[in-house]
Amino acid sequence: MNILITGGAGFIGSHLSRYLIGKGHKITILDDFSNSSPANIRDMLLNRQIRLVKGDVRDAKLINEITDGIDIIFHLAAQIHIDKSILEPKYTFDVNVLGTLNILEAARKRDFEKIVFASTSEVYGTALKDRIDEDHPLNPQSPYAASKAAADRLCHAYSKTYGMNVSIIRNFNTFGPFQKDTGYGSVIPIFIRRVLENKPPIIYGSGEQTRDFMYIDDAVHAYDIIMNKNADGALNFGSGRDITINDLANLIIRLCGKDLTPVHVESRPGEVMKLCADTSKSRALGFEPKYTLESGIQMLIDWTKKYKFDEWKI
Ligand SMILES: NC(=O)c1ccc[n+]([C@@H]2O[C@H](COP(=O)([O-])OP(=O)(O)OC[C@H]3O[C@@H](n4cnc5c(N)ncnc54)[C@H](O)[C@@H]3O)[C@@H](O)[C@H]2O)c1
Repeated sequence: MNILITGGAGFIGSHLSRYLIGKGHKITILDDFSNSSPANIRDMLLNRQIRLVKGDVRDAKLINEITDGIDIIFHLAAQIHIDKSILEPKYTFDVNVLGTLNILEAARKRDFEKIVFASTSEVYGTALKDRIDEDHPLNPQSPYAASKAAADRLCHAYSKTYGMNVSIIRNFNTFGPFQKDTGYGSVIPIFIRRVLENKPPIIYGSGEQTRDFMYIDDAVHAYDIIMNKNADGALNFGSGRDITINDLANLIIRLCGKDLTPVHVESRPGEVMKLCADTSKSRALGFEPKYTLESGIQMLIDWTKKYKFDEWKI
């Protein structure tokens, strides 16, 4: 199949691209590299395994052009950082909502097999019950979460209105190699990098906020399921277990073999206090996470130690 992956040079997109190439698909990546480096996809570029389009998902004309001849779109391109969304809500809305609208509009004019939209567990806000199922109300607490909720519902509306095959994947926090570990990065790679550099993890607020983490290979499996099975409505993917950020920091310190004490700073506005997935629906479709949090973190520590940080800059 001819597959377009928007945001394909990013963390999840680069892993997904590699996986789908392995399955014999032809991959086009659209990315503006606003939050990624060509180093993430260098192997695929050198081996001429992908068609790379450097461009912006907000560019409707470009989206129309590059979707010609495409069978499936995985729409992952997004401004993903909560902190940045607080500083730049309009930019976040434009990329995440209008960018999604461009994808849906291009698809509406053509005969697509499927569109997969990367939504997120953040759309739910703080859990109102122990585990969040897909029927949990959407109570986004940050401009990022609100933009993803808007795009998520836009996808739903397009599937109902126009009969398009749009699947919505609501991943809980995902981690693994090639995820950014500086600046607007993500908590696990940032903690690992700091601890390996003998610096204490910095925790926002009390650290009692919880998250449900899934290793990248399990997330790619989730995408495989959503590509090949027809689910009705959105689907949660996660480990089904949550951990406090305090316990996460101490786990990383222990696995890195260091003696450090986390530092607490002021909590962030819009912080979600509890996220834990009810994955009954995705499990019924065959989803079974293979990696524990500890084994995934150990693999990422080993990878981070081997990886030359300079390569991010290539
Ligand atoms: N990482 C997670 O824990 C997680 C969890 C749930 C959902 N998601 C969703 O999965 C998707 C991928 O997340 P990720 O962690 O790989 O993030 P990422 O930032 O690594 O990947 C997103 C990619 O989109 C690109 N991009 C940003 N704005 C663009 C634009 N205007 N035009 C073209 N490309 C643009 C970035 O350069 C980046 O390569 C996102 O939609 C995110 O909301 C991620």
